[in-house]
Amino acid sequence: MTKQRLEGKRVLVTAAGQGIGRASALAMAAEGAQVFATDVNAEALATLTGVETFALDALSDDSVTEGVARANPDVLFNCAGFVHHGSILDATDDELDFALDLNVRSMLRTIRAALPAMLERGTGSIINMSSACSNVIGAPNRFIYGTTKAAVIGLTKSVAVDYMSQGIRCNCICPGTVDSPSWQDRVDQLGKELGSKEAALKQFVERQPMGRVATAEEIAALVVYLASDESAFTTGHPHIIDGGWSGQ
Ligand SMILES: NC(=O)c1ccc[n+]([C@@H]2O[C@H](COP(=O)([O-])OP(=O)(O)OC[C@H]3O[C@@H](n4cnc5c(N)ncnc54)[C@H](O)[C@@H]3O)[C@@H](O)[C@H]2O)c1
Repeated sequence: MTKQRLEGKRVLVTAAGQGIGRASALAMAAEGAQVFATDVNAEALATLTGVETFALDALSDDSVTEGVARANPDVLFNCAGFVHHGSILDATDDELDFALDLNVRSMLRTIRAALPAMLERGTGSIINMSSACSNVIGAPNRFIYGTTKAAVIGLTKSVAVDYMSQGIRCNCICPGTVDSPSWQDRVDQLGKELGSKEAALKQFVERQPMGRVATAEEIAALVVYLASDESAFTTGHPHIIDGGWSGQ
């Protein structure tokens, strides 16, 4: 029997209750990893099978410290994040503080907690969720989101450069639009503004020259690659997977 791509690896995923985190947790388990799928929403986790689950709030130092100690991961996938709508003139300080906390500081929490054991073992892969909407490309009405997801790329490069000679890799993922429960909510919201869901879908789909949005499973395939030793020569990079959005 051929070896599975993630055999022997312990993996911690944040925001694994739905969307990309969920698809990635399942894809990594299918490749032989021992997956600890976590989310602040314990109900969403209850429907996952084939992985270990427990509640973890990426906004809480205590919750993260406890969860990372329990999983003791070789692979850390920081997937938690939130999309705010609006321009710089719409953005409130509270919204910006929340996004900085969830989209950026949560990664500081998990990485600080997981790194010491990774360094002791001399191996580890950290995968952070950024977005094509960052310093890769500007998207309309995504001021807070694009700002915080650009910060994730800087965070990723900083961690990568400090530990690349000690066996630790740190990469991030920059997807275009991905079909997920929160994206469906954003389509519904925009549909109300534009007068129909069809018009909202058209606007999202038109950004991707391939003429469709991604599935969560397509992003999960990249997560599996970055988690596995197949990507052993890769660190410090944003990996863009956006249906050609930024490739034109
Ligand atoms: N869907 C897209 O189009 C898209 C594109 C690029 C990047 N992303 C990023 O991918 C990630 C996942 O997005 P998605 O759309 O696949 O999923 P989603 O937004 O539908 O689900 C998000 C999950 O995060 C969980 N969550 C919220 N707050 C949390 C917290 N404090 N601690 C732990 N978990 C928490 C929720 O319970 C939920 O299960 C986000 O970081 C998002 O910014 C999404």
